[in-house]
This record gives sequence, structure tokens and C-alpha cells, in this order.
Amino acid sequence: MAKTRTRYVCQVCGQVSPQWMGKCPSCDAWSSLVEEVAPTPVKARVGRAVGAEGGRRPAALSEVRLGEETRLRTGVSEFDRVMGGGIMSGSVTLVAGDPGIGKSTLMTELGKHLPERRLLYVTGEESPRQVKLRARRLGVDGDAFFLFPETNVEAILAAARETEPDLMIVDSIQTLFRPDLESAPGSVSQVRESAASLIHLAKQIDLPVFLVGHVTKDGAIAGPRVLEHMVDTVLYLEGDRHHAYRILRAVKNRFGSTNEIGVFEMRTGGLAEVINPSAIFLSQRAYGVSGSTVVCALEGTRPLLVEIQALVTPSSYASPQRTATGFDNRRLQMLLAVLEKREGLRLASHDVFVNVAGGVRLTEPAVDLGILVAVASSFHDVPTDTGTALIGEVGLGGEVRTVGRIEARLKETAKLGFERALAPEHNLKGIDLPDGLAVTGVARLHAALELML
Ligand code: TYD
Ligand code: MG
Repeated sequence: MAKTRTRYVCQVCGQVSPQWMGKCPSCDAWSSLVEEVAPTPVKARVGRAVGAEGGRRPAALSEVRLGEETRLRTGVSEFDRVMGGGIMSGSVTLVAGDPGIGKSTLMTELGKHLPERRLLYVTGEESPRQVKLRARRLGVDGDAFFLFPETNVEAILAAARETEPDLMIVDSIQTLFRPDLESAPGSVSQVRESAASLIHLAKQIDLPVFLVGHVTKDGAIAGPRVLEHMVDTVLYLEGDRHHAYRILRAVKNRFGSTNEIGVFEMRTGGLAEVINPSAIFLSQRAYGVSGSTVVCALEGTRPLLVEIQALVTPSSYASPQRTATGFDNRRLQMLLAVLEKREGLRLASHDVFVNVAGGVRLTEPAVDLGILVAVASSFHDVPTDTGTALIGEVGLGGEVRTVGRIEARLKETAKLGFERALAPEHNLKGIDLPDGLAVTGVARLHAALELML
């Protein structure tokens, strides 16, 4: 194979250099030069592309043929929903997560749910024996599941063209290398260029590809951030290793909505889908204890009821601690400031801990009201009514602001047996309220606190 030209590009200022240097000669940044494959000169490309049938030229929208949108459904509703309704043909999905969280398990199980499909499992980390043992444990078998222990991208591309699978899984992207690059597997340039080759293949032969990726300690996908921009879909498999629940979250999806989540339980026989996660997240609720509330959050398209726990204790430090688990820390600080200013709670001498129970991470402001009531409940050491769920964003003025899809949230709240919900007053005009649920509209945080404490 002809040696591809490589070059080194500064990730800070874009300076291109033919050789690696510790310090960028242009912007003086250290260790900023990263190897990449030099693009093919434009002249060579033009000759091939213009004129020929299917060659590239601007086309009117009406000329673009859509073809059939084919999605591969696995039948696992938690997975299909996160994927936006199934696996899109020619799509590239990055499945990221901590080591040992269950990425390989999730991927191997695709073989069980798609027994008719030809599946190529490229393994760069484990031996075929290890994969086989896992597959057997998961009840995956058959002539359609092909194993390929390989890390050389060229060989993987060749195998994919030869095997003609319906689906390809690469476990993991960090182990791959392109022989035309000098840097080691796992380096920024290798991960990026290897992914680029696989993405190119996926689009060319319409092959759905899953790339498994590890995340670093601070939660980012190891390797370049740019990987997230290159692929169509980014899924995170999250969860506490000490708990059985795993949450599959779409943080990016070109073919579906983001923030969609699927909930699974890790069992001895693999990942089982959890159809009613709210019931599980609420099953271990602390009753009659101060600092506990229930919120109805919307994760993607699905309303989810989760317990919020807050603990407010006198601080022994000059600067008190504010710690949120499963919620944005900075938003918590802002909300606490609202509580101090608008409600006169003297939190400056107290540590505040907020925890979203069940290992869920909440990303939307509609849970503000529940968090503030939980904090106030712990501060005054007064338990709240356990049959009430809270919905509402809280603004800096202490006003309760409207949230999206209130009807779906109230319906789910009623379904789980709650008797009452506090919701933004402005949300309630002209909507259908579910049977059996008393909904009280609140316009101010103060009103919610009076009702709850
Ligand atoms: P794995 O899929 O290998 O994780 P990753 O690829 O993300 O590193 O899963 C590892 C853990 O899952 C391991 O601790 C064992 C557990 N496990 C089960 O509990 N049940 C099963 O059926 C399987 C296959 C694994
Ligand atoms: Mg693995």
C-alpha cells in the first residue's frame, strides 16, 4: 500500500507542520500538534467527481431521491426508542461508557435480538474465546454472528466488504490503528482517522456501525472530542457499577430526539429492559423523612418520576459546601441563592447536598421546584407530603415558570398513584387533567413551600 502523506496540525491555532514538534512554532502552545492524514490534493478529486453519473454536483432538493428509510428494529423497546425508532441504515453510533459498565454486553446482545441478521463483531480487546463465553452466557449463538479479532483498520474494512454484514460492531475504537499513521493506537490521531475510515465505509455500503468507546475519568470519551461530531449518534451507557441499573442515553442523534433514555437492569443473563423505570426509582423512597420530594422530569420524550433528596447541615467550614449528584452543581448554587434572597433561608452557614436517587442524571429545569422544596424541607426538618409530585422551573425572582409537555407529565404522575401535583399555574389553562390527580397551580415558590411544608 502506498504510504499516505501525514502531517501535524496544531489543535490550538491550526498551524500545519510536516513533522512533530513539542511546541507549536506559531502560537507557542505545548504538545498541541496532532498527526493527521493530509487531504488529497483538490486537483485529483475534481477530475473524478465531475460529469459522471452519480458524480458530485449541486442538485435541487426535488432531484434528491430519498430511497427507503430503513431502520433495523431490535424489538427491545428501550433500545429502539433511544436509537430513534431502530438502527438507521448506514448510521454510525458511538457507544460510550466506563469500563465494565456493560457496553460489550449490550452490543453482543444485539446478536440475540437480530438472529436473522449477519453481524460482524470486531474485537480488539478480548480474545474470540472471551467473546464466545459472553455470547454463550447471553444465549447468543448461530451462524450469523461473525467474530473478527483485529485492530488494523485496513483489515477491518476488507473484512466488512467481504463478509457483507447487516451490522458491524467495533469493540473498541481506542484499540484500532491505521498503519499509515505513526502514532500509537488510542492516540488522538489514530482514534480520529480510524473512525473516519469506518464512517466512510458505513456511508459507502450503507452499513450500520457501532463503535464502542471508553470514557476517561472526567467522563469524556477518550480520544478526541471531534469523534462526537463525526458520528451520527452518541449513546452513553451510565450507571453505578454497584447498582444493577443501567441507563442508555442518547446525547446526540441525527435520526431521533436527544436525551432519550432507555433503562436496563444487569442480570446474570445480560441486560434486561425495564419497562416502568419510575416505579423502580421510587421503590426505595424514604417515607416520613425531611428533605425528600418527588419530581416529574422529562427525559427525551418520556416522563420520569424520581426522588430528590436534600440534606442541609450546619457547616464547619468558612465556605460551606454545595454538592449535587445527578444535577448541575451551578444550577443548584443559583437555586440556593433564590431560596436565600426570596425566602430568607439562611443557608450561608450550612452545607447543602442534593442527590437524585437511583443514579439518574436530570438535565432539565422543570425539576427546580422539587429541588428547592427538598432543600427547604431539610432546612426546617419538616417532611413533605409523600403523595405529591412537583413540577416547575424556578426563576431568579422566585416565580414558577412553565415547563414543556405538562399533560404527559401529569398523566405519568397519576399513573404512578400520586394523589396531588403542584404545577406551574400558567401551564394549566385549558388542559385536560388526568382522573384521580388533584393538580394545584402555583405561580410562586413561596406558595409551593406553604403548601408543602
Ligand atoms: P462488559 O459488557 O464486559 O462491560 P464493558 O464492555 O463496558 O467494559 O460487562 C462487564 C460486567 O457485566 C461484568 O462485571 C460482568 C457483568 N455481566 C453481568 O452481570 N451479566 C452478564 O450477563 C454479562 C455478560 C456481564
Ligand atoms: Mg468491553
